[in-house]
Amino acid sequence: VHLTPSAQPLRGKKIIVTSGPTHEPIDPVRYLANRSSGRQGHAIAEALSKLGADVVLIRGPVAIPDPVGPKTIQVETARQMLAAVEAQLPSDAAIMVAAVADWRPESEGGEKIKKKVGESTPSFALIENPDILRTVGHHRQRPALVIGFAAETQNLIDNAQAKLARKGADFIVANDVSTETGIMGGTRNQVRLVSKAGVEEWPELDKTQVAERLARRVADFFVNEII
Ligand code: CTP
Ligand code: CA
Repeated sequence: VHLTPSAQPLRGKKIIVTSGPTHEPIDPVRYLANRSSGRQGHAIAEALSKLGADVVLIRGPVAIPDPVGPKTIQVETARQMLAAVEAQLPSDAAIMVAAVADWRPESEGGEKIKKKVGESTPSFALIENPDILRTVGHHRQRPALVIGFAAETQNLIDNAQAKLARKGADFIVANDVSTETGIMGGTRNQVRLVSKAGVEEWPELDKTQVAERLARRVADFFVNEII
């Protein structure tokens, strides 16, 4: 029997993707953030959409354009991102690419903090943000496929394997974001795909190529049940 592979193997699958940084307000004019450009998450959303998936991209503040195809929801903080993700459940898959701020300033003052001559500089207490991937990975409406990223500057594989277990993910896409790699904020990426089955090293590719390869992997999961 000759089976023609569908050009749109993800048709009918709803997939949630998060992308970009989050901004955590300090006061009305200042925020805590990170170097994420949103390039990798946006490219993944677009690649999944090209394979026919109904993609909902939930994205933090980024300077790049929204991809063509996915439905895009814009958020600012980690708490808003979590609420937007939960509002989209149930879904078939969730791919959490956002560089969510781990902490936020404990209290967002209603007024701009002013410099005062002769007084000490302000200090901030930080509190932990919700972990969106971990929430989705252990959710009562957990998608059949949950994928996270692991941005590390050291002990890449050990940290990625620990995240796989802790967050209840099926795959962790691990990348080395030491500043000399130029990955965070850059256009190229070199990743390792970590699952219970082991570690698969991918070559250095453009973020769009990493996205296409990951999207095909997602299609393999749904079409051929390959993990
Ligand atoms: N993530 C998330 N919500 C958070 C923090 C992280 O959804 N509050 C997701 C990211 O989108 C990514 C994965 O969790 O898919 C791993 O993020 P990472 O920052 O590497 O892991 P953390 O658990 O935050 O640990 P650490 O930053 O200490 O390495
Ligand atoms: Ca983190």
